[in-house]
Amino acid sequence: MIDLTIAEMAREHLESVAELEAICFSQPWSYKSLEEELDNDTAYFFVAIVGGRVAGYIGVFVVCESCFVSNIAVHPDFRRQGIGTALLKMAALTADAMGTEFISLEVRKSNDPAIALYESMGFEEMGLRKNFYRNPTEDALIMTKIFSRKA
Ligand code: COA
Repeated sequence: MIDLTIAEMAREHLESVAELEAICFSQPWSYKSLEEELDNDTAYFFVAIVGGRVAGYIGVFVVCESCFVSNIAVHPDFRRQGIGTALLKMAALTADAMGTEFISLEVRKSNDPAIALYESMGFEEMGLRKNFYRNPTEDALIMTKIFSRKA
């Protein structure tokens, strides 16, 4: 069992999160674009801390009744230990607490690990965006988890 803390992303985490982006994605977010989200009222970014290291992060945007996951990544040294699940739970809790109707995201069609994670959290495939990704070009699956609300 790992000693995991989920915290709001702060300036002190930006360098590590930018490094994580560069390790995990072919079109990574820059330090500057991550920094801009610190002042964005619609952005909720969280980091997973293990032994003082940033092991993962998630960013979501809440707009009106909708919540969109912009990115989620776990450092290769820390995968398959429940960190992605913990980050996604935090995002879903935030979205639910803000009264949103659903939480949604795009994922590369070939990204089996991420798709397995989302399915394990109750996300369902709701559509497809053709050629959504570059480097390499690939379709995106749209996956969504709808919150049940009492009338
Ligand atoms: N193969 C198959 N299933 C996988 C998997 C893999 N490589 N990785 C995760 N899963 C599924 C399993 O069902 C797993 O449960 P289990 O370990 O009990 O079998 C479940 O998801 C939860 O896994 P978890 O340990 O919480 O995920 P993680 O911390 O390893 O993070 C990612 C998963 C996708 C965030 C991580 O692999 C990652 O950062 N990938 C690169 C970045 C990326 O693709 N982000 C998504 C962009 S849309």
